[in-house]
Amino acid sequence: MPRKPRQILVTSALPYANGSIHLGHLVEYIQTDIWVRFQKMQGHEAVYVCADDAHGTPIMLRAQREGITPEELIAATWEEHTRDFADFHIDFDHYHSTHSPENRELAETIYRRLKDGGYIRSRVIKQAYDPVEKMFLPDRFIKGECPRCGAPDQYGDSCEICGATYAPTDLKNPVSVISGATPVEKESEHFFFALGEFEPMLRQWALEGEHVQPEIANKLREWFEAGLQDWDISRDAPYFGFEIPDAPGKYFYVWLDAPIGYMASFKHWCERTGTDFDAWWGPDSTTELYHFIGKDIAYFHTLFWPAMLYGSSFRLPTAVWCHGFLTVNGQKMSKSRGTFIKARTYLDHLNPEYLRYYFAAKLGAGIDDIDLNLEDFQQRVNADLVGKVVNIASRCAGFINKRFGGRLSATCCEPELYAEFAAAREPIGELFEQREYGHAIREIMALADRANQYIDQHKPWVLIKETGREAEVQAVCSTGLNLFRVLVAYLKPVLPKLAEAAEDFLNIAPLRWEDVAEPLTDHVIDPFKPLLTRIEKEKVDAMLEDAKEHLEPAAPAKPASAQSADIEPIAPEITFDDFAKIDLRIARIVRAEHVEGADKLLKLTLDIGLGTRQVFAGIKSAYAPEDLEGRLTVMVANLKPRKMRFGLSEGMVLAAGPGGKELFLLSPDEGARPGMRVK
Ligand code: MSP
Ligand code: ZN
Repeated sequence: MPRKPRQILVTSALPYANGSIHLGHLVEYIQTDIWVRFQKMQGHEAVYVCADDAHGTPIMLRAQREGITPEELIAATWEEHTRDFADFHIDFDHYHSTHSPENRELAETIYRRLKDGGYIRSRVIKQAYDPVEKMFLPDRFIKGECPRCGAPDQYGDSCEICGATYAPTDLKNPVSVISGATPVEKESEHFFFALGEFEPMLRQWALEGEHVQPEIANKLREWFEAGLQDWDISRDAPYFGFEIPDAPGKYFYVWLDAPIGYMASFKHWCERTGTDFDAWWGPDSTTELYHFIGKDIAYFHTLFWPAMLYGSSFRLPTAVWCHGFLTVNGQKMSKSRGTFIKARTYLDHLNPEYLRYYFAAKLGAGIDDIDLNLEDFQQRVNADLVGKVVNIASRCAGFINKRFGGRLSATCCEPELYAEFAAAREPIGELFEQREYGHAIREIMALADRANQYIDQHKPWVLIKETGREAEVQAVCSTGLNLFRVLVAYLKPVLPKLAEAAEDFLNIAPLRWEDVAEPLTDHVIDPFKPLLTRIEKEKVDAMLEDAKEHLEPAAPAKPASAQSADIEPIAPEITFDDFAKIDLRIARIVRAEHVEGADKLLKLTLDIGLGTRQVFAGIKSAYAPEDLEGRLTVMVANLKPRKMRFGLSEGMVLAAGPGGKELFLLSPDEGARPGMRVK
C-alpha cells in the first residue's frame, strides 16, 4: 500500500555574502542535499531552500573597502555561491537572499507581532563608538591590550593569550580596527527581544520530543541554567540591513532577519509554484520543517529562532540538526598550511562526487567534527567507488553488450541473492532517514563486496571460453548488473551524477527507492561508458598548491591614520635595578607546534642551556612553526609561570611589532649560545 507522501521543508544555514564557499561549508550543504535527495527518491514532497545572508557590518565594510555598494557585493557573491553549489550538485529548490522584498516584509511582520505581544523592550545602552568613522563598533572591530595579561592585539570580547573574557570597555589602549582611532563611549537606544519570556515553551520544545540531538539538549540545559538574557536586536546607522519600522536610523541586527530568510526563500518558491505559504508556516501546519546547521550557531536556532516564531504565531521547527566542524588532515583549516580550500579550488581539480562520497562516509547523526584526511580520501574513494562499485558494472556490461546484444536474461537467475540486496532498502533507508550516512555507506559497501564475490565465484571470463555455457554467462552478468543497479539506487542521494550516468547506460528511468524491489529482466542496455575514474595524487597535490596561492590578504590594509599612530610613546622611567630584575636569556627554539583551538598561539619548547621551557607565544599569525625550529631568540626566563587554557607557560619570547603579520622575533648575533644572559 503506498504510504502518504510527507511534506518536508528543509534548510541549510545561510552562508554570509562576504566570502567564498569553502570545504567546511560543504559538509553542511552536502549533508542536507543527501537527505533531501533521499526524501525525494522516497516519493515525498521535499523542498530545499537556502539563501545568502546578506546583511551586517562586515559586508558593509567590505563593500566600502572594495569601493562598491553592498548591493553590488552581495549580487556578485550570490552569483559565485550559486555556481559553486550547482557544481557540487547541491540541488536547492530555491536559493534566495536575505536582502529581498519577501524577507523585509516577513521581518517587519514578525517584529510587529513581537512588539504587539510585548516582547520588544527599548533601553539606552553605552557602547564603543568610532569618532572618525562615526559608527558604533561591534566587539570584533575593537582591539587593544588584554586587561588581565597585557597581551597586545586582542579582540574586544576575550583574550586569546590568557583566556580572559571582558567587555570592550575594559581593554587597555583600545583602537578601532576600522580607523585606528581610539573609541569613545556613546549612548544609544536599543531594542531588545525578551527571550526569557519564552523559557517554559523553549524548555518544553527543546527538552521533550526529538527536536534537537541529545548533545544539543545538554547544551540547552546549561543555557537555561545560566539564564536567558534579553537579546539586542537593533543596530544604529550606518548599517547594511532593514530599517526597523517606526525607528528611523535603527536597523534589525543581521541575526534577526537571517533565519527569517528561510521563510522568505520558501515564500518566493511558493509564489513561483503556486503553493500556499500559510499551510507550511501557520501555527497548526502539519508539514515538517528541518534546519541543518553547524554547532556554532545552535543558540540562534534552538532559542532565539523558536521563540521568535512562537511569539509571532508561526509554527515551530520539527527539528534542528547540528553537525560538527571540518578539519583537514586533523587540524583546523588553515591558510598558512594551504588547507583552507575553497569550493572552486577543489572543483578546478577534482570531481565533486569524490567529496560527496567521502563526507557521506564520515557523517553521522551527532555533532562530532569530521576530518578530511587527504590520503584517506584518495584511498577510500578509489577503493570503494572505483574498485568495488563501478568495477561490478565494468566486469559484466562488456559481455552483455558484445555477446548478447545488450539483452539481460529473461528471468532473475539468483532470486535469493537479489532479494537480499532489495530487502536492504529498508534498513539502509532508515539509516539515511536518521542521518547515519557513514553507517549506510558501510552497509552498501558490504553489499558491493558480496556482488564482487559472486562474480569472482562464477568467473564469466572463464565460462565464456567454454562452449555451450553462454546462457550461464548471460545469467551471471545479468545478475551482476542487477546488483549494481540496486547499489546505484542506494548511492543515488550521495552520487547523483554517477547514478545518472548509470541510468543512462542501463537504459532505465530515473531510479526511485522502491524500484529496487524488482530486478530488470529481458531488458536491453546501452553500451557501457566509464562511470568514474580514480583520484590521482597529482590532482590532490595540485589542488593544495592552488589553495596556497589563492590566499586572501591576511588582514585589510590599515588606513593611514592607524599607521601614523603606530609608534608607541615611551613608557615611564625605571632604574637600572628595575631592569636588572628581568632575567633575559638566549634560547634555542627546539620545537614549535600549533595549539589545538588557539588561533594565535604557538607552543614553543625552548632550550636555555639549563633545560627546556615551554612557552605559549602569540606569534602564529606571523610565523609557521617549521620556520622557527632551530633558531635562536631571547626569552624572559624569570617571569612567573602562568597557567593558560592550553597548559603552563613558563616565560615569554621577545618580539616587536603591532601584531598580525607584523611581528618580529628578536635574534642574537652569531656566536650567542642558549643560556647566555642578556644584559
Ligand atoms: N550566516 C550565518 C548563518 C545564518 S542561518 C540563519 C553563518 N554563516 S557562515 O557562512 O559562517 O556558515 C554557514 C554554515 O556553514 C553554518 O552552519 C556553519 O556552521 C557552517 N560552517 C562554516 N564553516 C564550517 C566548517 N569549517 N565545518 C563545518 N561547517 C562549517 O553562520
Ligand atoms: Zn590576556
